[in-house]
Amino acid sequence: MTEVPESCVLLIFGATGDLTRRKLAPALFRLHAQGLLPKGFAVLGASRRPLSNDQFRALMRESCAQFCPTPPSDEQWQGFAERLYYEAGHFTDPTLFQRLNMSLREIDHRHETGGNRIFYLATLPSSYPLLVRQLQGAEMINKVDDHPFTRLLVEKPFGRDLNSAIALNDEIASVFRENQVYRIDHYLGKETVQNILVFRFANALFEPLWNRIHVDHVQITASETLGIEGRGDYYEEAGVLRDMVQNHLLQVLSLVAMEPPLSFDADAVRDKRTEVLRALRRLANPADVAAATVRGQYGPSPDGTLPAYRAEPGVSPQSQVPTYVALRLFIDNWRWQGVPFYIRTGKALRHSSTEVVIQFRQIPFSLFGQDQVSHIEPNRLVLRIQPHEGISLGLGIKAPGQETHVDHVRMRFTYDHRYEGEMPLAYERLLTDAMRGYAALFARRDSVEEAWRFITPILDAWAQDPATDFPNYAAGSDGPAKADALMRADGRSWHPLDPPAPS
Ligand code: BG6
Repeated sequence: MTEVPESCVLLIFGATGDLTRRKLAPALFRLHAQGLLPKGFAVLGASRRPLSNDQFRALMRESCAQFCPTPPSDEQWQGFAERLYYEAGHFTDPTLFQRLNMSLREIDHRHETGGNRIFYLATLPSSYPLLVRQLQGAEMINKVDDHPFTRLLVEKPFGRDLNSAIALNDEIASVFRENQVYRIDHYLGKETVQNILVFRFANALFEPLWNRIHVDHVQITASETLGIEGRGDYYEEAGVLRDMVQNHLLQVLSLVAMEPPLSFDADAVRDKRTEVLRALRRLANPADVAAATVRGQYGPSPDGTLPAYRAEPGVSPQSQVPTYVALRLFIDNWRWQGVPFYIRTGKALRHSSTEVVIQFRQIPFSLFGQDQVSHIEPNRLVLRIQPHEGISLGLGIKAPGQETHVDHVRMRFTYDHRYEGEMPLAYERLLTDAMRGYAALFARRDSVEEAWRFITPILDAWAQDPATDFPNYAAGSDGPAKADALMRADGRSWHPLDPPAPS
């Protein structure tokens, strides 16, 4: 890996789409404004919509004005706009790729990008195989070596179950080497998700406790207040497991549970992450799935202000698609044997909050008269991913007074207290890592397939046994009552969804 991003052209397929407008354009612009892009760098957008270079630049500016935390000034924009180009055409048309090739050569010349290319597939996944084949047909891929380099950035979803993921990976592998492929999981680009590894391996304090002897259980929560935001067509095909769990939350889980890697090299880190996914205990039959999972779908809020999932545009009025899941899983290895990991995520919930909670075991015996062991809260370490990014630790202390009475307090660190300015956007880090050729924060083929190996039996069991109680939670609530029952049955409870007030 080189430290500085290398000169290159980023060719974005799907350049007028939602992802480019919401995520890629803002991230690229912010990198430009901070001087973090290489000097030799340009973007070539490709899409069906007929646009001139200037019209494309105007569209990107509009997107940045809407989606950047701070809209671009005229001066900042000018310098960035000069790096943007556009080519219109149908992906089925081989002449588009000839034109792209010509544009790329001109851009290489003008921006000194050295023939290095990153192809970004920001289109519907159904176009991925076609695009990969067209790139190959137009001889735009250097599979032999990295001088100049050609890399592929792919957006999720990588397949919709194990078999389709393998088929897609095979298609890509017929054209690119695995180390040219960067599968984006934007959760891995989040500062606080990366901090899980730093927290674990830059402190001597917690790692000795990070195992079955000391940890009672782990909770990973991603609750969202938003519904599906007009993405009914997509969500009806995806559902909550494909949308959030197979990718983002299993990647977070793998960072929490992995063994220390030998180094920070991309493959050293990814080997250890993949081992966790390989060790997930499979839910072998529908009875296992029913015992370990709770699914939900939101109905309208009681006051009628928030619509039901089934009333969203593009959603069937009888939809069986789950918008919520809670599940209990186990990792069959030496470190974690017997420790339950609980994952819950859902749309249209009361609060937006993403966090990892490590709950340590209860003390074995209470010295303190009136305080029974069960009245003394176990230590809970909370890694807050968003919002109010930070870390807190629950401790028992003596309440002041004549009696020895145990009180519970939280020690808290928040990023906004410690650091000024905006947090970097996840895509900023991922885009520059791809330009550096550093792949640790991307999903490798084997980890994607291992995650599907765990998720696919759940999808199959749910498909065979449609839910009879949908909708089973109100928009704006904490989710289905059955999710609480899942925890209660284990003698545990969910960490409250309320985000702590910014302190
Ligand atoms: C996306 C999902 O991958 O992640 C969305 O498709 C979800 O449904 C989003 O809302 C959550 O990401 P973030 O960064 O807002 O937590």
